[in-house]
Amino acid sequence: MNKMTVRDIDVTGKKVLVRVDYNVPMDKAGKITDDSRIRASLPTIKYLIEHKAAVILLSHMGRPKGKVNNDMRMAPAAERLSQILGEKVGTTADCIGPEVEKAVKGLKPGDVLMLENLRFHNEEEAGDAGFAGALAKLGEVYVNDAFGTSHRAHASISGIARYLPAVAGFLLEKEINTLGGLLEKPEHPFTALFGGAKVSDKVAVLKNIMGKVDCLLIGGGMAATFLKEKKYEVGKSLVETESLGVAADLMQEAAKKNVRLILPVDAVVADTLDEKAEGTVVTIDAVPGDKMILDIGPKTTVLFSKELEKSKMVFWNGPMGVEEIPQFAQGTETLAKLLPKLKAKTIVGGGSTGEVIDKLGLADKVTFVSTGGGASLEFLGGDILPGVAALKDKVK
Ligand code: 3PG
Ligand code: MG
Repeated sequence: MNKMTVRDIDVTGKKVLVRVDYNVPMDKAGKITDDSRIRASLPTIKYLIEHKAAVILLSHMGRPKGKVNNDMRMAPAAERLSQILGEKVGTTADCIGPEVEKAVKGLKPGDVLMLENLRFHNEEEAGDAGFAGALAKLGEVYVNDAFGTSHRAHASISGIARYLPAVAGFLLEKEINTLGGLLEKPEHPFTALFGGAKVSDKVAVLKNIMGKVDCLLIGGGMAATFLKEKKYEVGKSLVETESLGVAADLMQEAAKKNVRLILPVDAVVADTLDEKAEGTVVTIDAVPGDKMILDIGPKTTVLFSKELEKSKMVFWNGPMGVEEIPQFAQGTETLAKLLPKLKAKTIVGGGSTGEVIDKLGLADKVTFVSTGGGASLEFLGGDILPGVAALKDKVK
């Protein structure tokens, strides 16, 4: 990465603003169900504490759309961080203003303070310069460790970097180096496994990765659009009509570049998408007109497994079926459990894919799980993320 990091700047005795992405999934009772993003921010926070900086954490939670929402306060995340860190983490009732300034003034070296949800202010998502300035006023150095939000040109992501020396945290650095490595120096054979509901979410990354991979495995809801383009009956499966042309282009491109693009050969189908629906396995040329594809079938799982076993590098993004419903989660879970057994570097995109890995207890058994969902897709799609662009360049 050609950006400066916390290592390249003097933080001792300084008040350091750290943008983290603690937008973590929570259950209905407000309990955090996956704290990967919090744990992933520890190296930066610990480094700053060790170097006697006062740490001021900035984050958003959910999409409160400019209004205070009690279900989206930062307190549960601050509490979880405090448990993991074994140190008190203070909180504030807002993220800007006199009260916050007072709290910040009272911080001593090594203290950690978490400000309230940035998105309680409309100005955050609007990238408002005044709001960015009000945040910047709270510290002397800005560190971006919120990879998962770095595709957003928000006030706390790119705006604030105009007012303070701005550098990357260790998580951001690791994300950029690891995901960037997939594009810049992939080991071969390199296989990418894609799933999830929509082709349209992944067009850029599919196009960009096409020139790098040896094999492209496509499952999940998005496979239906490819199958439809190949004139298979896909029944009631969701087909993105507007993406049929893209699917055709991708298949053509794959053929031209000698990339083996492999689609499901069988599927689990059912009448409806619900917990009580019963799944039946059919070959891919026998999907009944009144049913929908809800998972890859066992033959496809074996076929995909064989490709993964031959690989030296694997990237996975998107479930193969409907992960929330056990009878449609087999394909995803079988392939997820295979990842640690491969003789390959295994890199997993964030979002729902990361949650599956976490739920199955595999997070420490794969090479890397990105903390970014949308951010990792945009980065792998070839975009320069606003949150990265805003940071200081490394001096040669
Ligand atoms: C995410 O989880 O995708 C990030 O935290 C960014 O949130 P957003 O998609 O609501 O901007
Ligand atoms: Mg998102």
